[in-house]
Amino acid sequence: MGRLSEKVAVITGAGRGIGREIALLMAAEGAKVVVNDLGGNTDGTGTGKIADDVVNEIRAAGGEAVSHTESIAEVSGGISLFKTAIDSFGGMDILVNNAGILRDRTLFKMEESDWDAVIAVHLKGHYCCTRPFAQYIRETNRTNCRIINFSSVSGLFGNFGQANYAAAKAGIAGFTRTVAMEMAKYGCTVNTISPGALTRMTIPLREARGEEVVAEDMDAGGPQHIAPVVAWLASEAASTISSQILHVARGQVSIMQQPAILKSYQKQSGTWSLDELDKYIPSLYRAKQSADEAVKAGAMPEFID
Ligand SMILES: NC(=O)c1ccc[n+]([C@@H]2O[C@H](COP(=O)([O-])OP(=O)(O)OC[C@H]3O[C@@H](n4cnc5c(N)ncnc54)[C@H](O)[C@@H]3O)[C@@H](O)[C@H]2O)c1
Repeated sequence: MGRLSEKVAVITGAGRGIGREIALLMAAEGAKVVVNDLGGNTDGTGTGKIADDVVNEIRAAGGEAVSHTESIAEVSGGISLFKTAIDSFGGMDILVNNAGILRDRTLFKMEESDWDAVIAVHLKGHYCCTRPFAQYIRETNRTNCRIINFSSVSGLFGNFGQANYAAAKAGIAGFTRTVAMEMAKYGCTVNTISPGALTRMTIPLREARGEEVVAEDMDAGGPQHIAPVVAWLASEAASTISSQILHVARGQVSIMQQPAILKSYQKQSGTWSLDELDKYIPSLYRAKQSADEAVKAGAMPEFID
């Protein structure tokens, strides 16, 4: 009996990279898997049948899987993905919103098409796939469901040359917090992953720095390191964990801070004068800097054998 037996899992962008590893592990843990991938290039152009290869791999290992090759950036693709799970396996329990593309450029050079394509696959893609699943959970009272979304340090910390991607990935963290509230009464958890892994998305960045990526690098930092945390979040063991951001990279698993008010001043009457703000906003900023230092110190990993 695997941790996910009797569960139906839908994973977007599962033809390669992180999504493929999640599909293989969830299937090994007993889930029936819908492998979605349109099989395009990193910039979102083109198509291919790579989802079928992952389905064949799962079946060869004795698991159950079907493929779906429509784009999840369209409402129609999200609906047909959901219907594939229902028609093939009679239900749906787990959604992993993993599909992604990149169109990296500084804002100076970023065309409307670069903005729209990245927002469509990442941010709108989360809407397109999550909405039919959420409606189904509410209409059928299906319990113990899981939604696992994919953000990035690019959106959570910021990253030069990725304004479109960062905006989408920050939006996904906000989407997660709100959908977690809306799904709580149905016992469905909604969490965010912030991954770091060597895939076709990140290997070119290493190579551009003149660093060759060899087999040992893939062993230490490949996409296989992300899958166990996603599978665990999808399991029974994670039923009380919702609205969280887990950062996962190499052998490291971490929980992230979420936005919260850190320090405040309350004026008893009237509006703030600019002279008063000369004093209080720098004081708020200093409190923030000390808190940042404390968080940084606490974030050093504890080493586990
Ligand atoms: N690799 C990292 O270090 C890293 C860091 C931060 C965030 N992420 C996020 O993790 C997720 C997986 O990334 P990866 O590194 O495995 O990338 P990847 O390029 O290897 O895989 C992404 C997959 O998504 C598919 N896809 C793209 N657009 C699609 C669409 N419209 N419909 C269906 N499928 C589509 C692609 O064909 C591809 O197979 C992405 O959301 C990415 O933004 C990755």
